[in-house]
Amino acid sequence: QKDGFRFFMEKEIYEQSHVVADTLMGRLSDSEIIFDELDKSLFDGINEIKLCACGTSYHSALSASYLFERYSKIRTSVEVASEFRYRNPIMSKDTLFVVISQSGETADTLETLKMAKEAKLKTLVICNVDNSSMVRLADSCILTRAGIEKGVASTKAFATQVTIFWMLSLYVAKLRNSMKKEEIIKHISLLREVPGSVKVSDEMHERLKRLSKRYLHGHGFFFIGRDIFYPLALEGALKLKEISYLHAEGYPSGEMKHGPIALADPELFTIALLPEHMLYEKSRSNVEELSARDSTICAISSLEFDKADDFIKIKNSSHYMLEFFEMMVVLQLLALEISVRLGNDVDMPRNLAKSVTVE
Ligand code: M6R
Repeated sequence: QKDGFRFFMEKEIYEQSHVVADTLMGRLSDSEIIFDELDKSLFDGINEIKLCACGTSYHSALSASYLFERYSKIRTSVEVASEFRYRNPIMSKDTLFVVISQSGETADTLETLKMAKEAKLKTLVICNVDNSSMVRLADSCILTRAGIEKGVASTKAFATQVTIFWMLSLYVAKLRNSMKKEEIIKHISLLREVPGSVKVSDEMHERLKRLSKRYLHGHGFFFIGRDIFYPLALEGALKLKEISYLHAEGYPSGEMKHGPIALADPELFTIALLPEHMLYEKSRSNVEELSARDSTICAISSLEFDKADDFIKIKNSSHYMLEFFEMMVVLQLLALEISVRLGNDVDMPRNLAKSVTVE
């Protein structure tokens, strides 16, 4: 049931605070990350993590690659499952093969898991559905505890996947001695703040409802960000195109001058992610270049930015990952409200199914 919300997607955005809390539950001690479901020997002899997924789960995998390399200091690669299947990839035994799937049934992702098993790689699935095909097949499993997700546009599953990856990167960091104990302790206290960061404020939702009317007609959207905010930009663009049918692309901010900026004009809307704690000055100058070429800019940041046509202020946070989660909610609500104004069926977007179990 929708519990008074207009759409399941809206309800699921509001549920993120408690499902993220569920995902953290029992997995944080004062000084370490606990994954009782994992055998510590899973990481023995592993020198690379390969992540494979589709759609939103692919975006969470891409986010994870920044965390694994930064904190666990382990080489990490990310693959789109439908590509990986057919390109005769090199499967090396020192690779941990990780599939990510809300449903656990996506055909392409499931097939890559079978390939990894056949190549005798160690396998791990991050999944939201217990007893799904991937959970049954993988050697190890971490469940995301997002609860049933009905909206075709994935929201709370993504939030819980990224939460798991943040925890897993610290868990592996401890095994590999790649982070100081005090740093891990600091991250644990930041993780405890995530349920608060993803809580929807009425004020923010009202602001986005009003703002959405300015972003209905144009010839497209750029979502831009740097570092882990690049996968978040991809996810923001995917959310918007799935339910609004408007053309949207996610880019790394630094790629603009390599081609895309040629499209800049007032009818080109740029949704700019400007986190205070991750490459702020660099990102800011990329946005200024777009502004100078007359793109209409909507900036999301905790720091005031006077070059933007619209400015969405998020809370001041002490860490970029908390900014990540705050911005994630803004992007989800923005897509939702634009879609509502366009009169679309938010939960059942055209041409899409919740689970893609055929090729
Ligand atoms: O169930 P999965 O996570 O494997 O699904 C993967 C994609 O089909 C899914 O994330 C899709 O992109 C969503 N509609 C995104 O909102």
